[in-house]
Amino acid sequence: MKVIITGGGGFLGSQLCEKILERGSLSGPSGGQEPVDEIVLFDDRFHLASSEPRVRQVCGDISDRDTVREVVGARADTAVFHLASMVSGECEERFDDALRVNLDGGRHLFEAARAAAGRPRVVFASSIACFGGEGMEPVNTDRTKHTPQTTYGMTKAICEMLVNDHTRKGHFDGRSVRLPTVIIRPGRPNAAASSWASGMFREPLKGEACHLPVRRDQCHPMTGYRTVVESFIALHEAPEMRLGSDRAYVLPAHRVTPELADRVLREVAERQKLALGPIVDAFDPRIQGIVDNWPQAVDGARAVALGMPEPPPLREIVEEYLADFG
Ligand SMILES: NC(=O)c1ccc[n+]([C@@H]2O[C@H](COP(=O)([O-])OP(=O)(O)OC[C@H]3O[C@@H](n4cnc5c(N)ncnc54)[C@H](O)[C@@H]3O)[C@@H](O)[C@H]2O)c1
Repeated sequence: MKVIITGGGGFLGSQLCEKILERGSLSGPSGGQEPVDEIVLFDDRFHLASSEPRVRQVCGDISDRDTVREVVGARADTAVFHLASMVSGECEERFDDALRVNLDGGRHLFEAARAAAGRPRVVFASSIACFGGEGMEPVNTDRTKHTPQTTYGMTKAICEMLVNDHTRKGHFDGRSVRLPTVIIRPGRPNAAASSWASGMFREPLKGEACHLPVRRDQCHPMTGYRTVVESFIALHEAPEMRLGSDRAYVLPAHRVTPELADRVLREVAERQKLALGPIVDAFDPRIQGIVDNWPQAVDGARAVALGMPEPPPLREIVEEYLADFG
């Protein structure tokens, strides 16, 4: 099988690539397991050095239709994971680029999957940012109305609908996964309005200060990256007869506040004899304003019923991060 991961140079795309290499196979067009002989990582920037012969890195822009068509190719035994995206903070600053990359890029990718031989499975990384504002429920589910309050969330909501409609038309077999904020992103802070969610763990664990732009009691749905990678694969593997016409699944998540993060960090630090950096209040009304319009809680029961995992306890997510990146 050929596997394409757009955004394959990013945080989740690179982890997904590692996991698929470790598994060695995915469900093919017949539904049976087929060995993966090629993984194409498509991204407009790369930080990876891979000597794995099954991995091919292609540097390009998802908004370039011909490049995307060439990358997806015509093989009948193709699986696509569409993760390439601008992040929320960038989309708020650069509306036209957000439409070009997240929306036109999505359309090019979906058209290329439609043109491939057979009927490829396409897994799209959506976000709980497609919920928002007054349309939200106290606990948001797959039945909550799409009322995004950011340009980023709007592009994700439209791509989810495109995935459903291409699937209904028989162009490909699409599935969307609505991700809560994924912790703990290694490296530097990024331009996501939720960057603080990883930062409030990552910086203290490095012994550095985290500057917190939101309230200490701000509740936010979060899950771990290992769980998300397993969920991408579980959704890809789900037999089509178990899926209905609504192909978008919100993942289960913990409700995390900075106060809770601080407590869990202290617990981990005591067990592992670490000296933590401080979490320092640095309130930013712009970030708080965006976060105020995001869901505070989600219910991922529908995803779990389909075979996607629940996140482990928060303490384990922190320990997994230390084991993988510490
Ligand atoms: N990490 C989270 O908390 C989170 C939460 C909700 C949804 N998501 C979604 O999951 C997916 C993966 O997230 P991530 O955390 O790995 O993000 P990331 O920013 O680490 O990875 C996204 C990748 O897309 C690439 N990209 C951006 N513009 C591109 C373009 N024009 N052409 C080609 N590639 C381009 C970037 O270079 C980057 O490597 C994204 O679609 C994101 O919106 C992530």
